[in-house]
Amino acid sequence: MDNILEFIDVNAGYGRVQILNDLSFEVKKGEVYGVIGPNGSGKTTMFNALLGLIKPGSGRIIFDGVDITRMSANVRCKMGLGRTFQIPRPFENMSLYENVLVAAVHGSAQSERFAKDHALSSLKLTGLYDKRETRAGELTLLDRKRLEIARALGTDPKLLLLDEVAAGLTDAEVKDMMELVASLKDSGYSIIWIEHIIETMVGSTDSLMCMAQGSCVISGDPREVIESEEVQRLYLGVEDDE
Ligand SMILES: Nc1ncnc2c1ncn2[C@@H]1O[C@H](COP(=O)(O)OP(=O)(O)OP(=O)(O)O)[C@@H](O)[C@H]1O
Ligand SMILES: [Mg+2]
Repeated sequence: MDNILEFIDVNAGYGRVQILNDLSFEVKKGEVYGVIGPNGSGKTTMFNALLGLIKPGSGRIIFDGVDITRMSANVRCKMGLGRTFQIPRPFENMSLYENVLVAAVHGSAQSERFAKDHALSSLKLTGLYDKRETRAGELTLLDRKRLEIARALGTDPKLLLLDEVAAGLTDAEVKDMMELVASLKDSGYSIIWIEHIIETMVGSTDSLMCMAQGSCVISGDPREVIESEEVQRLYLGVEDDE
């Protein structure tokens, strides 16, 4: 089984409003899979469908060889899906350790003992270990984004879903984030990374998909995708719309 994820002709939306239109794509095990696309093209909605927060009207979602299309969000999380939120939502008054521990206890399928150890290793992986007793409310934006990732790692995922973790960062901070994602890949995680910053995506991903109006416009080698006519047309005159 080479693919960690397959979307097959997925149609989904909110209430009667359909957002994802016959969305199909595949993510290989161990790769960083980038997703770009204009605002409102359905990138975050794709994560919501994958996580079971919205149910597809038709189509199938296969995660690690298992059809999860009808499974609950809770079961999917415990099977190994971990997400960051586009807007970080830590518990501001809790320490970083407590923030990650909550995710580890509730999101992983493991014992409390495992959760405690795993929370600490998630903080180490994201470079936050030395700040583990700091309150989340005191963090810089970069560290808040790191904490989002640590919380997602806390649930012990096989597939990590990153939603604009580099948005709003300085160029130097974006570089730090690229290095962090590369180190997570080296640790064995499969990763889907949604981001608007094109150069970051070309430099950090193994495959890239461009979405528009809830469908895959093109996917494949990142450089080829960026240079394709379809993407050039979509992004004409738009460098970074965040
Ligand atoms: N909870 C919701 N209820 C109804 N419509 C929604 C909801 N969330 C998003 N939408 C709509 O779904 C469409 C796709 O939104 P989505 O957030 O998936 O886009 P996106 O590609 O992540 O955009 P961005 O780059 O701005 O984050 C938009 O038209 C949006 O207004
Ligand atoms: Mg979004």
